Amino acid sequence: MSDNILEMRQISKEFTGVKALTDVNFKVERGEIHCLVGENGAGKSTLMKVLSGVYPHGTYSGDIVFEGQVQNFAKISDSVKAGIAIIYQELALFPDLTVYENIYVGNEVKRSGVVDWNQTIVQAQQMLQKVKLNVNPESLIKDLGVGKQQLVEIAKALSKNVKLLILDEPTAALNENDSENLLQLLRELKHQGITCIMISHKLKEVIAIADKATVLRDGRTICTLDAAKGEISENVIIKNMVGREIDDIYPKRLDQTFGHTVLEVQDWSAYDPQLGRHVAKEVNFHVKKGEIVGLAGLMGSGRTELALSIFGNPKGYKLQGELLMNDAPVSFSHTSDAIKAGIAYVTEDRKGDGLFLIQDIKNNVSIANLHSISSRGVINDNEEVKIANHYKSSLTVKAPSIEQIVGNLSGGNQQKVSLGKWLFVGPKLLILDEPTRGIDVGAKFEIYTIMNKLIREGMSIIMISSELGEVLGMSDRIYVMAEGRIKGELSQAEADQEKIMQLATQ
Ligand SMILES: Nc1ncnc2c1ncn2[C@@H]1O[C@H](COP(=O)(O)OP(=O)(O)OP(=O)(O)O)[C@@H](O)[C@H]1O
Ligand SMILES: [Mg+2]
Repeated sequence: MSDNILEMRQISKEFTGVKALTDVNFKVERGEIHCLVGENGAGKSTLMKVLSGVYPHGTYSGDIVFEGQVQNFAKISDSVKAGIAIIYQELALFPDLTVYENIYVGNEVKRSGVVDWNQTIVQAQQMLQKVKLNVNPESLIKDLGVGKQQLVEIAKALSKNVKLLILDEPTAALNENDSENLLQLLRELKHQGITCIMISHKLKEVIAIADKATVLRDGRTICTLDAAKGEISENVIIKNMVGREIDDIYPKRLDQTFGHTVLEVQDWSAYDPQLGRHVAKEVNFHVKKGEIVGLAGLMGSGRTELALSIFGNPKGYKLQGELLMNDAPVSFSHTSDAIKAGIAYVTEDRKGDGLFLIQDIKNNVSIANLHSISSRGVINDNEEVKIANHYKSSLTVKAPSIEQIVGNLSGGNQQKVSLGKWLFVGPKLLILDEPTRGIDVGAKFEIYTIMNKLIREGMSIIMISSELGEVLGMSDRIYVMAEGRIKGELSQAEADQEKIMQLATQ
């Protein structure tokens, strides 16, 4: 007999103008790892927010049965009390607080009403051991890498005696090593009886870890696949996700000829006074017109820092070395100088610096290039609407209209808006930092196709990516970074997964 810890029955959820979920049925057996998959905007995050009380009882229809009882969570703390913990797509830690404060914030160990910090730290240490995170509980969150922050989030969930742990794209921001560690931890938690729901776009991961996988499409349950019955495979998942078969993950590239050198970076070093060390050191590389240059490396190898130091140096590093664009020396004292020179940077952190979440799609797309649709300081609204609609459809942003607030879009669709914003600037050199993080297989193909089209039109692209498949599948040339230095350059023909990893771990 099956023992379901959770049954969501006939769940429907509507936002103004969007039917996010329609009669979704979702059953999770006690002690299993159940993956939830589907295209961007399919409704995965919404379903989990319904479950955890982010959307309170009364704002959706249908029933949540948890531990055999119908639950009417009015707020998040109700679901926490019941033993449900959710770790969001974008982490929700306080960067300026310590590890232990983050674990116990709002849940401090008290003795006769007074917070017992010593005891709190001791307990935090125990939680950190459970997730095998070897850091001082008194270190600040902002000083930890994303992988470690993720583990702190899980430690926080464990401190609340979680029975059902929900992870929304937990490995999206992790490198392969950290991802593997996390998956291993989930397996161990499973053996301790913790049930887990994991949302992921990384199908290899799903195949590696899932006992079951439920596919959502357009807000409906399509099917639940069972690993024990051999039903979980990449093809089957993709077919159910998109409703058709996809043969290739990377689009075919026509023969591409490269032009002159667009960007040349010579003996470039960037010193971070706050960290007290170099984030980039004696870096040399170049990019030609029409070329896609991949920048590979592990998390923390300095790829983003290098890109930012070139892109007007917003973090205020101390710089040394030369930048040449089209063979002429340039120097940018501000990001806007770099933009004027034809560089655009699509950030990996769309929430932090990429998008204005409280604004709509239209404003976000036009914001970086307002002058091109304005005359005498007045924005031409018709033009703005036209442009926004153009990018919405060419990038297949899933939203009812360009008036949709960006903060309400699904993660992957936010990423597409971010790309649209920078394409509208019409750059000559596009820096893409983790361009397909959190993006589903179908939409990835679209983004790769767009990249190929852009280079055919003469643009150059630097692509920072932690996904080796993507680096290999898309780059004409690859530089591998480690500890702020370029450790090697590989042509498309000579590059393979092993060579990249070798250089990245030097
Ligand atoms: N607060 C909101 N207001 C309006 N629409 C919303 C809101 N939250 C989600 N939606 C819409 O509901 C649908 C489902 O979104 P959801 O975030 O659940 O997708 P998802 O499957 O998690 O996608 P992704 O893989 O991109 O994260 C989308 O069309 C989204 O635009
Ligand atoms: Mg989501």
